[in-house]
Parts: sequence; structure tokens; C-alpha cells
Amino acid sequence: MMEFIHVAVTVLSLLPLGRSAPVTSCENLIQPREIPGNQLLGKWILLAERTSIPGSKMLVQMLMENTWVNITAASEADTFNNLQIQKKMGKCFTLKTNMTLVNNTLTILHTYRLSGVLLNTGCPDCLVIYSNNTIGRIAVKALQLLSRRVKVSAAELEEFTKQAECLNLQPPAIMDSEKGLCPDPTLAPETKTTDVTADSISSDELSLLEKLLSSESGVKTLLDMIQRSMASFKQD
Ligand SMILES: *[C@@H]1O[C@H](CO)[C@@H](O)[C@H](O)[C@H]1NC(C)=O
Ligand SMILES: *[C@@H]1O[C@H](CO)[C@@H](O)[C@H](O)[C@H]1NC(C)=O
Ligand SMILES: *[C@@H]1O[C@H](CO)[C@@H](O)[C@H](O)[C@H]1NC(C)=O
Ligand SMILES: *[C@@H]1O[C@H](CO)[C@@H](O)[C@H](O)[C@H]1NC(C)=O
Repeated sequence: MMEFIHVAVTVLSLLPLGRSAPVTSCENLIQPREIPGNQLLGKWILLAERTSIPGSKMLVQMLMENTWVNITAASEADTFNNLQIQKKMGKCFTLKTNMTLVNNTLTILHTYRLSGVLLNTGCPDCLVIYSNNTIGRIAVKALQLLSRRVKVSAAELEEFTKQAECLNLQPPAIMDSEKGLCPDPTLAPETKTTDVTADSISSDELSLLEKLLSSESGVKTLLDMIQRSMASFKQD
């Protein structure tokens, strides 16, 4: 059950990467920009996320306190190793994925498939990633705001809100990044961290997830299931 929930949350809290002049009209706001591979490297903190799933805000906020990613160059060209470090219900988790940058598109293949582009942003140290995410027959569009900082200005957040509105996405899940991020486990081996990279989802669980995520009432059911299992999880 916990694996199922991790995968569900992972699908809803994906990945990442930007920079340019202030932009205003929808046409400008949703304009993909060039992705400079070397500028992707390092630490990025996920600050806000909006998806096409009604109810995803509740789901993400209930489970995910914050998440950041350490992007390093892999040995092959145009390939990156992403280490996602998530804090969920007070505990630390890591997820390793490989990411490619081809034709200005970021692709991650894991339990899910993410295909993303970088949108224009006036925020100098932010990445705004617009992605298509699929797991089984579930297709989710997501817009994510990542920054080098744990907090961006109200104007920067407002620009992200406008971008999401231009794309007709749901209300945002705002991460609680000022509350303390989990450390990179390689630098802080004393922190108890669970690696969820190898977690998988059975075809039965996938069918259930497909069903639940297809409606707002399904998402509410999923929230109930998670709340019931959270009590036992907290005692682990
Ligand atoms: C990433 O790619 C490397 C090299 O191809 C492979 O050994 C590793 O298992 C991959 N990791 C994941 C999480 O897929
Ligand atoms: C990248 O773009 C070129 C030219 O449009 C195309 O031929 C190639 O198939 C694309 N590669 C991928 C991996 O999509
Ligand atoms: C996302 O999917 C749509 C079609 O559903 C496609 O037009 C768009 O190019 C895709 N975007 C990316 C970044 O793959
Ligand atoms: C990111 O990973 C690299 C390689 O493991 C490491 O040297 C670096 O310190 C990490 N960055 C952070 C902020 O943890």
C-alpha cells in the first residue's frame, strides 16, 4: 500500500528546470524557451505545482512537505542523473531517475514517463517546467516552479499563477520549503532516508489508480485511503 501511495505521489510531484525577460500575455507566458543543459545542474527546490487533476492540490499538500532535486551530469552526453529528495509526513525519501535533454525536451522514464519543456519566466533563478506525464493510461499535465531559493517573491509566484491559468490547470499545491529540506543522504549519512527508486506498482494497483484519478470523487476516495494508512505509517 505504501508503495502505491509513493508512486501516486511521485506521479503528482515530478521533476524539473530557466531564465529570461519578464513576460505578460498568455502567448509569451507559455512560450517554451531554450534549455541550457549546463544551467540545469545542481540544487533546485520545488516551490509550487499545478496539475490537470482536480483535487491534486490536496493530495500533494497532504503528503508532500517539500521536495528538491540535485541534478548531476551523467557520463553520456545530454543525460542527467536526478536525485529527488522528498520530505513526506516528516520522513525523508529519495528517488533516482535518469533524464535526457533532446530537442529541447526533457524526458524521464521511470514508473512514469515525463516529457517536459521549459517555459519563459521573469524569475532569474527559476525553472518553470510544463510536462506531460503518463503512467499506464493516466495522462497528467503539470506545471512546476523550481528555484535555487526556498521562497520566491509574490510577483514571481503571481507570474507562475498566470502561466497555469493560461494552461487551464488546477489550483496550486504550494510546498512548505522553508520548513527544512531533507539533506542529500550522501552528505548526511546520519539522516534516516528511504530510497523509493525501486518501488513499483502492480497492474491491479495501476488500474485502481487510473480509476481514482479520473474523477474528483475518485481523488477524494484516494485521499481517504491515504489518511487511513497514514496513522500506521507514522508509527513505522
Ligand atoms: C540510469 O542509467 C544508468 C546507465 O544507463 C543505469 O545503470 C541506471 O540503472 C539508471 N537508473 C535508473 C534509476 O533508471
Ligand atoms: C529531434 O529533432 C529532429 C529534427 O526535427 C528529428 O529528426 C529527431 O527525430 C528528433 N529526435 C527525437 C529524439 O525526438
Ligand atoms: C504534450 O502532449 C501534447 C499532446 O497531448 C503535445 O502537443 C505536446 O507537444 C506535448 N508536450 C511535450 C513537452 O511533450
Ligand atoms: C549533488 O550531488 C553531487 C554529486 O553527488 C554532490 O557533490 C553535491 O554536493 C550535491 N549537492 C547538494 C546540494 O547536495
